[in-house]
Amino acid sequence: MTQSIENVLHEHRRYAPPAEYAARVRWTRDAYDRAYARSLQDPDGFWSDIARELHWFRAPTQALDWQPPHAQWFADGTTNIAYNALDRHLPTRGDARAIVWEGEDGTQRTLTYHELHAQVCQLANALTRLGVHAGDRVTLYLPLIPEAAIAMLACARIGAVHSVVFGGFSASALCERIKDAGSKVLITADGGLRRGSTVNLKASADEALKGTPDIEHVIVVNRTGQAVPMQAGRDLWWDDLLRDASAEHAPAELNSEHPLFILYTSGSTGKPKGVLHTTGGYMVGTYLTTQAVFELGPDDLYWCTADVGWVTGHSYVVYGPLLNGASVFLYEGAPNHPDWSRFWAMIERHRVTVLYTAPTAIRSFMRAGDAFVQRHDLSSLRLLGSVGEPINPEAWVWYHDVVGGGHCPVVDTWWQTETGGIMLTTLPGAHDAKPGSAGLPMFGVDPAIMTRTGQELGPDEGGFLVLKRPWPSMLRTVYGDDDRYQQSYWSEIPGVYFAGDGARRDAEGYVTVIGRIDDVLNVSGHRLGTMELESALVAHPSVAEAAVVGRPDDVKGEGIVAFVTLQSGATATADDVRAHVAREIGAIARPDEIRFADALPKTRSGKIMRRFLRQIAAGQAISGDTSTLEDPAVLERLQQAPAQ
Ligand code: WTA
Repeated sequence: MTQSIENVLHEHRRYAPPAEYAARVRWTRDAYDRAYARSLQDPDGFWSDIARELHWFRAPTQALDWQPPHAQWFADGTTNIAYNALDRHLPTRGDARAIVWEGEDGTQRTLTYHELHAQVCQLANALTRLGVHAGDRVTLYLPLIPEAAIAMLACARIGAVHSVVFGGFSASALCERIKDAGSKVLITADGGLRRGSTVNLKASADEALKGTPDIEHVIVVNRTGQAVPMQAGRDLWWDDLLRDASAEHAPAELNSEHPLFILYTSGSTGKPKGVLHTTGGYMVGTYLTTQAVFELGPDDLYWCTADVGWVTGHSYVVYGPLLNGASVFLYEGAPNHPDWSRFWAMIERHRVTVLYTAPTAIRSFMRAGDAFVQRHDLSSLRLLGSVGEPINPEAWVWYHDVVGGGHCPVVDTWWQTETGGIMLTTLPGAHDAKPGSAGLPMFGVDPAIMTRTGQELGPDEGGFLVLKRPWPSMLRTVYGDDDRYQQSYWSEIPGVYFAGDGARRDAEGYVTVIGRIDDVLNVSGHRLGTMELESALVAHPSVAEAAVVGRPDDVKGEGIVAFVTLQSGATATADDVRAHVAREIGAIARPDEIRFADALPKTRSGKIMRRFLRQIAAGQAISGDTSTLEDPAVLERLQQAPAQ
């Protein structure tokens, strides 16, 4: 990390919006300046005007009701986000493509807005017939297939709260999330395709369901055609359900603050947080940010490569683009299947115009070599986006020059599961981009860099990134644990939203986000809590204690290093331990490195000194006061322990 901070500090390149871009967009520099100023001076007027661009069954009379730290947006309005994402476009865009999908095996499917609308309505009717009511929770555990979007929208249409669990999570992670949400229906698939093999989702789901008695029905999409056991009375095929369901459906008229979805993300304790988003504010926020950042028109085919299991997949694969009537490209599989040209081949084949992906992917492509990119005609591309982790200037410039051919603006976007939508970015027709810096605040976003005690810092001083006012797409609470909501986000520095990131802001207001300052790792753009990893490790019968730290990784941003002590007399190999973590959480959590040790560095009161472990993991010399350690000699032994 030190290396990349240095790089960012010495980065002075800037990239102005291409002239033809600035001439064509709604969000020019002037338009941004005026709207941003108004969004802070007259938030009620600003947000009420934006809300009016969407459909409300009952129009809200007020934008914000702020009882810190709880916000309600458009509270007396009623609406339906699925109606706004689908029905609203039918008269003008009914035959336009809503979703263009390519499976990893090359299968292709296209759904027009009419077709997507019909299938969403059918599933909405089927769910209702199964007894799902507004407010009930439905867990989704699916590959990246159109049914994932259909299922989310069908839940939203009837007011059921969806909880999407990434298909790469293990049975036990799924089980924990189903229980926490109290879901009564699970929607899954027989399997999915990943890097040429089949991921057995239904088998994991069956395993998870042994521990979740509340699930009444399991709806199974036939994706791979493999034989899967179906439990009579519980399991139903998606196709059978839809075949019998009407394609007419009146959307539920929901209060603006009706819960829309729960999405689990890692925090600094062992238990993932169920971030709760509600209807109206999330809708207005994702609608506006998608419009401002991407300005999608009828000729665009927009591709955000995120899985629907992450927030980026919620806000910028499904809701934001469909609220804007855009055509969305979806790809099911791995970026390197059958080789590293897969993305570029698909961009050429489908004439994708906007690509929004993560720095880890960009760095992997960079490492694979330019030839994979250059073999393809990428002239359809007009805009590139980056999300999920800090992007180092080298990767930014490579993305711009090699993928974008030097003519596509690159927008880096900083935000979080909790913020619901993009908070910091440069608008492609309005602002110069500075590689490595996420950029300027979106409308209504009031960021600051503060010390631990809440003192605001000046230009170029490093500190904690906070947001000083509420915004429409903010999380409303942690599901079932409002205390945790208040503690994690609004109490670290009283009165402001504490993002958990370290950052700096330059004299022009550009914010550079350095990375997490809490016990959360960002591995390939995925958030993983060190405590969560440690609880998975100690659940291994041979493991006595474990401490997990991140270490800088050129491709993944951060790698996972686990220091492990074994029970006396027990044996385990590094591979055993790694496989165990993958079983407990999922393959994304597999430690890169295991270091077995006879003891961990602890203070006399028993606290593990992670600072030293981070230094050892990064191969640095130990620095800092070691005198508080119970046994300073532990450090030397740890440095000598082979990394496996
Ligand atoms: C990090 C993903 C630097 C950050 C949308 C944040 C970023 C966490 C950026 C949220 C960016 C996301 N530059 N860091 N452009 N975007 N992050 O909840 O540490 O999966 O707190 O949301 O990712 O991750 P999450």
